[in-house]
Amino acid sequence: MSIPEKIRREVASLKKAIERHNRLYHSLDNPEIPDVDYDALVERLESLEREYALPSDSSLSSSVGFAPLAKFSEVQHQIPMLSLDKVFEKDGLRNFTKRISKLLGTEDLVDFSCEPKVDGVAVSLLYEDGVLKRAATRGDGKSGEDITHNILEISCIPKTIELKNVKTRLEVRGEIFLSKYNFNQINTQARKEGQKLFVNPRNTAAGAIRQLDPKKTTNIPLEMFCYGIGVNEGIALPKVLGEIFFVLEELGFPINKDIRQSSGVEGCLDFCSELYSKRDLLDYEIDGAVIKVDSLLSQSLIGQNIKAPRWAIAYKFPAEEKITKVLDVEFQVGRTGTITPVARLEPVFVGGVTVSNTTLHNMDEIERLGLGIGDRVIVRRAGDVIPKVVKVVKSEERQSIKPIIAPKYCPICMSPIEKDGAVLLRCTGGSSCSAQRKEMLKHFVSRSALDIEGLGDKLIEQLVDEGLITDAADIFSLDEAVLLKVDRLGKKSSENILVAIKKSQETTLAKFLYALGIREVGEATALSLANRYPNLEHLMLATIEELESIDDIGPTVSSNISTFFARKANVDLIKRLREAGVRWSVLPTIKNTNLVGKTFVLTGTLESFSRGEAKDRLLELGAKVSATVSKNTDFVVSGPGAGSKLSKAIEYGIKVLDEEEFVTLLS
Ligand code: IVH
Repeated sequence: MSIPEKIRREVASLKKAIERHNRLYHSLDNPEIPDVDYDALVERLESLEREYALPSDSSLSSSVGFAPLAKFSEVQHQIPMLSLDKVFEKDGLRNFTKRISKLLGTEDLVDFSCEPKVDGVAVSLLYEDGVLKRAATRGDGKSGEDITHNILEISCIPKTIELKNVKTRLEVRGEIFLSKYNFNQINTQARKEGQKLFVNPRNTAAGAIRQLDPKKTTNIPLEMFCYGIGVNEGIALPKVLGEIFFVLEELGFPINKDIRQSSGVEGCLDFCSELYSKRDLLDYEIDGAVIKVDSLLSQSLIGQNIKAPRWAIAYKFPAEEKITKVLDVEFQVGRTGTITPVARLEPVFVGGVTVSNTTLHNMDEIERLGLGIGDRVIVRRAGDVIPKVVKVVKSEERQSIKPIIAPKYCPICMSPIEKDGAVLLRCTGGSSCSAQRKEMLKHFVSRSALDIEGLGDKLIEQLVDEGLITDAADIFSLDEAVLLKVDRLGKKSSENILVAIKKSQETTLAKFLYALGIREVGEATALSLANRYPNLEHLMLATIEELESIDDIGPTVSSNISTFFARKANVDLIKRLREAGVRWSVLPTIKNTNLVGKTFVLTGTLESFSRGEAKDRLLELGAKVSATVSKNTDFVVSGPGAGSKLSKAIEYGIKVLDEEEFVTLLS
């Protein structure tokens, strides 16, 4: 078949790219593109090779890794360490199991070992006469690097094993990884010390395992899950994988507790869906599931090709890291004037959603990343955590990258920007800045504040832009004629909004104080203030010292409160709000409940309450509600759909309540 020039060129350029990424990934532990993008290159090359009958055995797509770095001594794998073929859809898995049944010539359900595909580094451990003699990386599958010196530092790996027979050789294979918990600990420490952060657990583990100096490996608490056997001389092992895992466990090898045996494709599909839904709850990163024929005899009947066994398949999950481009960086102005850089991204599907912008937090973060406009970046979104830029992918075209410069003037009101502390930037415009006014109003009407339904962000922006309202008190003089003037707002919606405004006038002092948006006065602090000063006038006259004597209120917050009430504009606003009909009844004093001062985190959905209602009930009882789980959390209330907060709770050993237990506790 004649091969068009265009195709030849594409194949050559694909090979060049794959070779480069292989080197970056396997030898330098510094991948420039996420795995999915790499997979796409390989798949394209393979499909062209198939279509044009190009030789593929010597091509890069069939190489498993990359030749070892010269600095390590080389280890020949007596039995090659293979890779896995991949599927991305249920149908791919169905085709795989159909193929297996056909190859085995059976209509019975085939037994499979269903395993999490741990995202780490494959290694081989060789025991001679029960003693760990040599450990090696996979390398290019035929030969890898000798990393024995580093493996000896990993506590969960047995250095000797007790075998009945003498004269034995046993090769155990598995994945070295770093747990999510330890990865976060290491990065928290690195951040404190102003050091470069690690990108993800896999790269950190790969870097640690390939250190020439084992002391550097010791600093990274690596773990391992064993998932297979290579060489075996002199040991009688069971004939199915599931039982081999038991034997390995008895010998002291770490085996993943999330491995299951199932029969037929449906069992495997169930395993994959379950694994996917608990992905966030696992303390190790996975990029899919591995489905393997359980019987070793069947495995050898089915056989393998040069790259991968035919008896196993990787079922890949959507990637949690993707590459995209930073189109621009905008500076957003918050309610209290804080200026936050936000990256506008070329939309990218990552971690199951499309992401088109993400916060960059502050200028320090931009500097740490070495980020410029036009840069290609790795964006990570794992679980329900907000997406973040984790790494800039340095390209050769640095000259087209524009630097990100901190603004000197507010992008909205042009007031000067001042530095607040080490990293924060703040617009000095106060309520003369329309962006700050809009954010203040959005906060004022939000659910935990005056809770005015229907007065959404868009509408507030329009009302401010059209000069129809300036501050919170103006909300109460809105009428139908004014609302109808606003774009696309019909009679019915206007009426509903007016009813909601009216309803919001009856509130609590705590909600009112929170709604005022005093810097760093969150819901819990507002409640403490309302309990201590049921009479607002008394609070307005309280001294800093008095305020500081309230539980949980430190010097910064008490000074913020005192400064707030010292400003005439704020006192006037409060007066106008009260004149406009905003009122509250004095809260009944909190009963002596055992929840006072306890910190709760809510995650997932509850049936008998909305999250907001549950939060209100807790606050009324004197408990605190936090959005993040920390060592100080007392209880995590978990409903269906709970995410990473639940896994953190388990990790920290915090008491987790289901809805029933929570309701009992409340009553
Ligand atoms: S079996 C002959 N099982 O995935 C089969 N691999 O893409 C070879 N991996 O190199 C591997 N978890 O680094 C197997 N439970 C598991 C795995 C697993 C992660 C990695 C391993 C392998 C790569 C193949």
